[in-house]
Amino acid sequence: MYSDFVLANDRPAYIQVKDYIRRLITTGALQGDQKLPSTRELCGLLHVSRNTVINAYSELEADGYIYTVKGQGHFVSSSAAPSNSVFQSHDVKMNWSTKLNDYARLAEEHDLMKHGIRGQKQAISFTSIAPDEKLFDLQNVKRAFMDRMSLEGDVLLNYGYAKGYKPLIEYLLNYMENKGVDLAGKDLLVTSGFTEGLSLVLSSFKQGSGRILCENPTHHTAIKAFKMHGYKITGVPMERDGINLKELSRELASQAYDLAYLIPSYHNPTGIVMSHPKRKEALRLLQQYHVPIIEDGFNEELRYSGSHIAPLVVSAGSGNNSVIYIGSFSKILFPGLRVGWILADSTLIDYLESVKRARTIHTSTLDQSLLYQYLYNGNFEKYLKRAKTEYKRKHELVVRSCQEWLPAHQLSSDGGLHVFIEFAAGVDTRELLKLCSEQGVLFTPGDIFYTDGRGQNTLRLGFSRVSEADIQKGIQIIGYCAEKLLS
Ligand SMILES: Cc1ncc(COP(=O)(O)O)c(C=O)c1O
Repeated sequence: MYSDFVLANDRPAYIQVKDYIRRLITTGALQGDQKLPSTRELCGLLHVSRNTVINAYSELEADGYIYTVKGQGHFVSSSAAPSNSVFQSHDVKMNWSTKLNDYARLAEEHDLMKHGIRGQKQAISFTSIAPDEKLFDLQNVKRAFMDRMSLEGDVLLNYGYAKGYKPLIEYLLNYMENKGVDLAGKDLLVTSGFTEGLSLVLSSFKQGSGRILCENPTHHTAIKAFKMHGYKITGVPMERDGINLKELSRELASQAYDLAYLIPSYHNPTGIVMSHPKRKEALRLLQQYHVPIIEDGFNEELRYSGSHIAPLVVSAGSGNNSVIYIGSFSKILFPGLRVGWILADSTLIDYLESVKRARTIHTSTLDQSLLYQYLYNGNFEKYLKRAKTEYKRKHELVVRSCQEWLPAHQLSSDGGLHVFIEFAAGVDTRELLKLCSEQGVLFTPGDIFYTDGRGQNTLRLGFSRVSEADIQKGIQIIGYCAEKLLS
């Protein structure tokens, strides 16, 4: 004992001695009521000064790990040592997997981070649709943080409001109003990204039919959330300009739905923007059957060409309260801040606010206020302009490279950070992925986005974090492997 202590240079020595002795106590290497070496002995054993040991012992005593007996020295507190715990560890071996419910089981089963595509570190990976961190303007983020902290750091570090940080709420309401939303009768709740927003809504709704309707394919995280909440999912096929209205109408007429989930702009995974006439008709149909709509607006700003199309929450018109709009800054700014929002009927927001408070109290006020200050300082527009120029160039390069290198296929993507490829039926993209990963190229096979096991001949290419040289090289390799598969 004591021979394995190594003093590092980067922390005060007495803290290191304190941590070392505490660890010996909590791991059972030192027993309850065991006498510790005197300060003189220990400083020799650990090769530190006597003062260091005196300070360490004094802190350990203040924290209740050791006690002093006058004239006898320092002893280990019996309650701090594990050997005094009521049970021996083998008496209480839980089998956790038998105790977990379907919610946890499904979360694990559909966890792409654990069970998704893996490859070597150096691989050219088209699997991510996160923003390119090289574009982040760190100087402005740092400035925003300092600005806000110096203004009200003390307030920010205390508890905040479940509904969100007030200045950010005001900013977002104004942002949504600028998109054309009539705010009368509506309110806004700040969430930890889109994902929490969706989860709050799903956990708050009564299940009648227990059915949810969405585009097919759709966002994998949404499919996972629907399943975890016990919904039966009906996926309506996508067409080049959005959801297939005939199928939508047929589905709505054939059975009842509790909710619909739509990604009208730069849909994930197809990259498709639903046309304006389709939006109107989809809204009309869903309203006719009284189905509330969750609109996912995550990618709305990433338009590189074509004209702006109003979100559903705007097209639905003033006074309409059936659209629950969920926004996020994860693609257009910083996903690490985990800030999103729900804009919806104020009665609904009132309930969701309480659900949010019951679950997590609130989204980090520090994150919200940093984002607010960054936006307030006028950085957003500049950043977005720069990021869009970069992404547009890559988007065009991906489209050109696919045209050049991929055998018979259809590509869809009107914008955003990804394109979707559909090969002729019979091309299995899981097989293709195997061949490509041997060549150091990864992509996301499209079947994970389908609600009904289809899409074996499809794949998604996320390009935001891939260099231009790797985009060309990677797509050339995919093309070469696809040719091989077809021959
Ligand atoms: C369809 C869709 N919606 C929303 C998001 C953003 O989710 P979050 O805000 O939780 O990061 C993503 C991210 O990939 C997405 O693909």
